[in-house]
Amino acid sequence: MESLASIVLAAGKGTRMKSGLIKVLHPVAGLPMIAWPLAAAREAGSDPIILVIGHQANAVQGTFRGAADIRCAMQEEQLGTGHAVACALDVLTGFRGTVLILCGDTPLLRSETLKEMLTFHRDNGAALTVLTSLMDDPYGYGRVVRDASGQVSRIVEQKDADPEEQQIREINSGIYCMDSEFLFGNIKGISNDNAQGEYYLTDLLAIAVRKGLTCLALPTSDADEIMGVNDRVQLAEAGRILRSRINRDHMLNGVTLIDPETTYIDHGVSIGADSTIHPGCQIGGGTIIGEGCEIEQNVSISGCRIGDDCHIKAASVLEDSELGEDVAVGPMAHLRPGTVLAKKVKIGNFVETKKVVMGEGSKASHLTYLGDAEIGRNVNIGCGTITCNYDGVNKHRTIIGDDVFIGSDVQLVAPVSVGRNSLVAAGTTVTTDVPPDSLALSRTPQINKEGWRLKKKP
Ligand code: UD1
Ligand code: CA
Repeated sequence: MESLASIVLAAGKGTRMKSGLIKVLHPVAGLPMIAWPLAAAREAGSDPIILVIGHQANAVQGTFRGAADIRCAMQEEQLGTGHAVACALDVLTGFRGTVLILCGDTPLLRSETLKEMLTFHRDNGAALTVLTSLMDDPYGYGRVVRDASGQVSRIVEQKDADPEEQQIREINSGIYCMDSEFLFGNIKGISNDNAQGEYYLTDLLAIAVRKGLTCLALPTSDADEIMGVNDRVQLAEAGRILRSRINRDHMLNGVTLIDPETTYIDHGVSIGADSTIHPGCQIGGGTIIGEGCEIEQNVSISGCRIGDDCHIKAASVLEDSELGEDVAVGPMAHLRPGTVLAKKVKIGNFVETKKVVMGEGSKASHLTYLGDAEIGRNVNIGCGTITCNYDGVNKHRTIIGDDVFIGSDVQLVAPVSVGRNSLVAAGTTVTTDVPPDSLALSRTPQINKEGWRLKKKP
């Protein structure tokens, strides 16, 4: 196969986002916007990929540190798309083959479309092929001007177009493939003699035509794909389309989404067959969910690994936690990072956990805080139990052995341990270690003053 390189333009700030953050780093469906076209370029077979950076270069570069196939080219001043590509070519010296050129702000572009374009380009022996689309409202885009025989002759930008050219509905997507020899040989031939005083990459079309080279335009069937995100309205629209693609894949893989429209699953989430996701759920951060799970409405999950047959009840929040099989959580529970629940654990309503390991079959069914604790198997944590893990300066651990029964309203003042098979009576404040097989009881003896109320109330 002929070699393929990609150039992805991402030096511009994205002024219309009205953001302190560069446009291409705004997240869409769980990934920074730029990651989507990069992935499409990679899936189409590009190596290397040259990322043209300028604004917030360090932040953009930092996102891809460690990706062996990505190289960055610095464009200090944004003098136009033609200039941006010239900067990339400095990094690509010596490369021979086909060069794909993409923009960093087209997250909906699919690798299948790039592959189609590449095949079309190569089959026709073109020097340059541009991906185009017919738009009802082409305002703002460069227009594809064709001659009387229908051949592409040039692209004219909105600001340079005369009234007749402004009527053209075929627009430039900003996505091209080019023969490297043509590109290297002609990039310096672009001038900035136009309404914006910029070096327009699009001038390469007219140059190719003038030189009698094959220059083609391939209209896409799906206009969504080439949508460039310029503002936050388009950002939301792109997110909606990406999510619907992600949701569709999950459904085709055997996951039931009760209402896909209100189900927000990020890129990179895996869900087993016969799991059901109810409306309003947000699932991200590389979460893995097993088979046969039920995730009730308005649950938020990120960075979790959830075993088969788990039941996550309504409005629970799960972060960076690990759940074995057949675990029940919620409703309205909060698993904070470092929670590890073995199989058949039950966490009930208004329970918060953090850095807690719970053994098989253990339960904390109501109104409890468990932090920095190691809890054995078949432990019952009564309603209202609190691990007092923080002394204002340091965090301390609570260790509870197997088969322990902690009654309701118990405070465990850490560092403290409760030996296996012990019982801590309701209302106890545990301040010293409890040996195994014992009863721990700390209650102020109750006094009943008979007739007391009668004396108060005449
Ligand atoms: C460009 C095309 C236009 C096309 C449209 C599609 C040109 C001259 N015009 O216009 O025909 O219809 O895209 O969306 O190419 N960038 C740089 N450095 C620069 C300038 C731009 O890296 O000096 C990057 C931007 O960050 C962006 C991309 O190139 O990712 C496109 O630039 P933008 O200014 O948005 O071009 P448009 O005016 O939209
Ligand atoms: Ca644009």
